[in-house]
Amino acid sequence: MSITHATPPPGGTPPDPGGTPRIHVVWLDWDTEYLPWAEGKLRHVSPSWTTERVRLPPPWAPGAHWALIGPTGEGKSTHAVGLLRLRKWVLALDPKGEDDTLQASGWQRITSLPPPRRMQKDVQEGKPMRLLVGGQARTDQEDIALQKLMRDGITYCRHSGGWTLYVDEFELLSSQRMFKLGPNIERMLITARRDKTSVVTSFQAAAWVSKHATRQATYATMWPTRDRNMVKAVAEAMGRDWRSVAAAIDLLPPFHTLTIPKQIRAPMLITSAPKITGSRQTEPGPSSQ
Ligand SMILES: Nc1ncnc2c1ncn2[C@@H]1O[C@H](COP(=O)(O)OP(=O)(O)OP(=O)(O)O)[C@@H](O)[C@H]1O
Ligand SMILES: [Mg+2]
Repeated sequence: MSITHATPPPGGTPPDPGGTPRIHVVWLDWDTEYLPWAEGKLRHVSPSWTTERVRLPPPWAPGAHWALIGPTGEGKSTHAVGLLRLRKWVLALDPKGEDDTLQASGWQRITSLPPPRRMQKDVQEGKPMRLLVGGQARTDQEDIALQKLMRDGITYCRHSGGWTLYVDEFELLSSQRMFKLGPNIERMLITARRDKTSVVTSFQAAAWVSKHATRQATYATMWPTRDRNMVKAVAEAMGRDWRSVAAAIDLLPPFHTLTIPKQIRAPMLITSAPKITGSRQTEPGPSSQ
């Protein structure tokens, strides 16, 4: 797929004070461009459709949060696992119990916190550690244990610092009938930045979770949607003209995403996270936290 031109918002592309036209959106190949960009290894791209060298948004810094917003089954957890491989210490909350996509990551699953002593020792020695937190929940007792485990996971991350916390299915964790952990995550979103703890959240609709999930996010990644109110809400939280976001969203084929950086002068990024396969289960060993 190639994006041949960015669709300007109605009324034309606003001129940049420097006189150069603003590029609204660029397409990045997941492995060779998007991940290197997020890691800080790729700062510019030169799309074939323009003579301009496009400066990419700032990379994903420790402490910067990320929101993944899309309908069920379209690749949120896949995108998250790919991104989180860039981080050395990851705690991924799996409130569904045993999510297939998270399971395919190959990360070790733990069902109690703090992690076993040998894992804590590895972390202290600087070894990478990516953990899935959550077990099966088929009985009432298992439900209660899972609720406690999710709460413990958030608390552990808050107290230890330096981890990247992934909250899969934020709606479920926020739900008053289920986990009731919305305020705990909200607190992390507001305070974790200074401890260099990034919080990555995934959810289906911005209206169903705390506004902080998008307001505090440095990047929001959206999947194709016809829901204009959702596009408007996310665009507003990210400080963008919703029409330029909607124009880009409407271009997206299945399993493709639009990443909106908080920096309003930086371009939005289209990419596609590949399905997690057996070979991808081998951890590459990240170069940055
Ligand atoms: N680029 C891709 N190409 C083909 N299949 C993909 C791609 N990305 C994800 N998938 C597949 O789509 C399915 C759903 O992906 P994933 O679990 O990441 O979505 P999700 O949005 O997290 O869904 P849910 O709401 O159920 O948690 C999985 O079987 C996954 O392997
Ligand atoms: Mg998922």
